[in-house]
Amino acid sequence: MAQLKVLICGGGIAGNALAFWLLKLGYGVTVVERWPDLRATGLQVDLRGFGVMVLKRMGLEQAFRARSVPEQGLEFINSSGKQKAYFPANRTGEGLQSFTTDYEIMRGDLCRLLYDVTKDRVKYVFGMTVESFEESDSSIEVLFSNGKKDRFDLLVGADGQGSRIRRLMLGPDTPDTFHFLGVYTGYFTIPQPIREGEQYISTNYIAPGKRMGQCLLPIALEGNGK
Ligand SMILES: Cc1cc2nc3c(=O)[nH]c(=O)nc-3n(C[C@H](O)[C@H](O)[C@H](O)COP(=O)(O)OP(=O)(O)OC[C@H]3O[C@@H](n4cnc5c(N)ncnc54)[C@H](O)[C@@H]3O)c2cc1C
Ligand SMILES: *[C@@H]1O[C@H](CO)[C@@H](O)[C@H](O)[C@H]1NC(C)=O
Ligand SMILES: *[C@@H]1O[C@H](CO)[C@@H](O)[C@H](O)[C@H]1NC(C)=O
Repeated sequence: MAQLKVLICGGGIAGNALAFWLLKLGYGVTVVERWPDLRATGLQVDLRGFGVMVLKRMGLEQAFRARSVPEQGLEFINSSGKQKAYFPANRTGEGLQSFTTDYEIMRGDLCRLLYDVTKDRVKYVFGMTVESFEESDSSIEVLFSNGKKDRFDLLVGADGQGSRIRRLMLGPDTPDTFHFLGVYTGYFTIPQPIREGEQYISTNYIAPGKRMGQCLLPIALEGNGK
């Protein structure tokens, strides 16, 4: 059988992880990413359940651990800054993972890890997206944003939460996939060396009916594990 030709739209976590597995099956894989380069940003991502299992099956546990973050646990404080509850990560390898898992990593580092182990054998095209596609019995003809066309056996939408491919596949009448909960959130990072007596603890303060503040973890400038 001729090698299956697969197009993955979106070079994030799902797209790059799928590329990894399809390579193992011997498929010819192309990933198109709309961004001009790898979007290796974001905050912490915790692997749990199947995520941990898949990571192990990929043989990437060691590489993951070398990049993982040292968060020790998650605490809630009151308005005087006193700890009211603490949930440590459970590093026993047994039972359920806690809020902070034993497999925590910055999203960007996970994205780059998956990219690094696939980039030599996957054709990554940055600054490009799928404009439209047409399905026939045996293949899919894709029109790219640069005006070029190509044929694939399979097209996968891995373009994130607001997936455009999913919308194109399901049609204009599909209900909005976003359900607004009335919550706004903003994330930013402040690089700061860990201070004497401080630990890598995610600190949370909740003002009921008002706001919630979370300090994810002090990021050591000199690297992990300090
Ligand atoms: C603080 C924080 C904590 C989090 N914790 C967790 C956690 O514990 N567990 C968890 O599972 N998730 C967590 N997340 C969410 C996590 O980032 C997502 O689950 C994950 O990134 C989703 O992967 P994805 O590949 O579907 O989408 P993404 O990683 O968003 O990747 C989509 C990619 O597609 C590209 N793209 C978008 N549109 C197009 C287009 N039209 N054409 C081509 N490319 C396109 C994007 O540029 C992007 O590179 C957390 C997020 C934050 C901010
Ligand atoms: C915060 O918790 C500490 C210790 O339990 C307590 O002494 C203090 O009064 C609390 N502060 C407020 C504002 O509730
Ligand atoms: C970790 O999980 C195991 C198994 O469920 C449990 O026995 C242990 O008490 C947990 N430890 C922590 C620190 O939560």
